[in-house]
Amino acid sequence: MAYYRQVGEIPRKRHTQFRKPDGGLYAEELMGVEGFSADSALLYHRYLPTAIVNAETVKDERGTASPNLPLKPRHFKTGALTWASDEVDAVTGRRKLFSNPDVTIGFVVANAPSPLYRNAFGDELLYVQAGSGVIETIYGALTVGDGDYVVIPTSCTYRVVPSSPMSLLVLEATGHVGPPKRYLSKAGQFLEHSPYCERDIRGPEEPLLVEGTDVDVLVRHRAGLTRFTYANHPFDVVGWDGHLYPWAFNIRDFEPITGRVHQPPPVHQTFEGPNFVVCSFVPRKVDYHPLSVPVPYNHANVDSDELMFYVGGNYEARKGSGIGIGSLSLHPSGCTHGPQPGAVEASLGVDYFDETAVMVDTFRPLELGEAAEASEDPAYAWTWARRGPA
Ligand SMILES: [Fe+2]
Repeated sequence: MAYYRQVGEIPRKRHTQFRKPDGGLYAEELMGVEGFSADSALLYHRYLPTAIVNAETVKDERGTASPNLPLKPRHFKTGALTWASDEVDAVTGRRKLFSNPDVTIGFVVANAPSPLYRNAFGDELLYVQAGSGVIETIYGALTVGDGDYVVIPTSCTYRVVPSSPMSLLVLEATGHVGPPKRYLSKAGQFLEHSPYCERDIRGPEEPLLVEGTDVDVLVRHRAGLTRFTYANHPFDVVGWDGHLYPWAFNIRDFEPITGRVHQPPPVHQTFEGPNFVVCSFVPRKVDYHPLSVPVPYNHANVDSDELMFYVGGNYEARKGSGIGIGSLSLHPSGCTHGPQPGAVEASLGVDYFDETAVMVDTFRPLELGEAAEASEDPAYAWTWARRGPA
C-alpha cells in the first residue's frame, strides 16, 4: 500500500528487544513482498507465528473452468445463483465465475462467519455489492459495507463476519493488487490527478487480540488448499507498522474524471493487478461538448477481456439488453461491443449518468467457471441484432 501506518504498541527501534508485561519477548515477524525488496510490515506477536501442530490437505471443490466457446459476448445474473446450504461463508462459499492464469473471480452471498483463512498465492480484492460486516485480520478489523473494495495482502490471515448478508465479488490474484503506479509519486504519495487519495483509504485502527489454542487456518497456496492447526490463535498481534496491510476504499469516494467528449476507460481505473486492471464507473456529470455523444463508442478491446459488474443505477448504454443490478457482462477480445440499439440517440443531451459498475479488464482470456454456466442469460449475444440464430 502507498503509505505508512502504525497500530498498537511497537518498540522504538525495529529488530530490538520488545517485552511483554511478564518480561518475555514478543515475537517479531516481517511480512514483506517481493523478497524484502518492496512494501513490508513488522508485526509483534504474543506467541510464535511459526507454531503449527497439524497440517492436512483440503480438497478444492470449486472445479475447473472452460474456454469461452463459441466466442461471444455473455451476460450472467449473479442474482440467479443459489447455495446448497443455509449457512454460507465468504471463503468456502465462493462460487467460481471466471478464471485465467492471473486471476480467479468468484461470487458469494455470505451470511455466516468464515473460517480463518489466508491466500498465500496472491492478494485478494473483495467488492461488497450489498450487506455489511467485519473483516477480521491479524492487523486488526475493518468494518465494511456496500460499495467497499477491500484489498487483503497475500498471506494475511483473516475471516469475514457478516452482520447482514454480504454479496461479494471476489478477485483472487496471483500477485499483488494496488493503486495504478501512474497515480503515485516516486515515494508513493497519491498525485493530484489521482481520482482518490490517502484520505479515502481505511485501514485497521487497533489490534485485534483473541486468545485460543489449537486453532485451524485454511490456506490457499500454489498447489491447492491446506488446513493448518496453530498452537495459538493467530490474532495475537499487539502492534505493527509498515506499508503492507489490508485496506478498504469505498467506490463512492472515487472522484470521476469527466470531459467535453467521451472519456476512455483508463480514467476510471482504480487498481492494477498482475495482468488485469479494475475500474470504477460512478454516478457523474457526462460530456458537455454541445455535440457530444455521452455513451461509449463501439469498441474492440483488442488486448483484453472486459468484465463489467453492474451494481447501481441505470446503465444507459445497456438499456434493452436484459442487464440489471447484479448482472455481469463479459465482452471478450475478438468481439466488438458497444451501446445497445437506440442507446446513442437516447443519450444525446443527457448531462448525468446515475450508474455504478465495477469493471475488470484481463489481458488474458477469461474462462468460464461453474457459476458462470449456472447464471448465464443465453440471449445476450444477439441483443444488438435483435434476432439470434435461425
Ligand atoms: Fe466496453
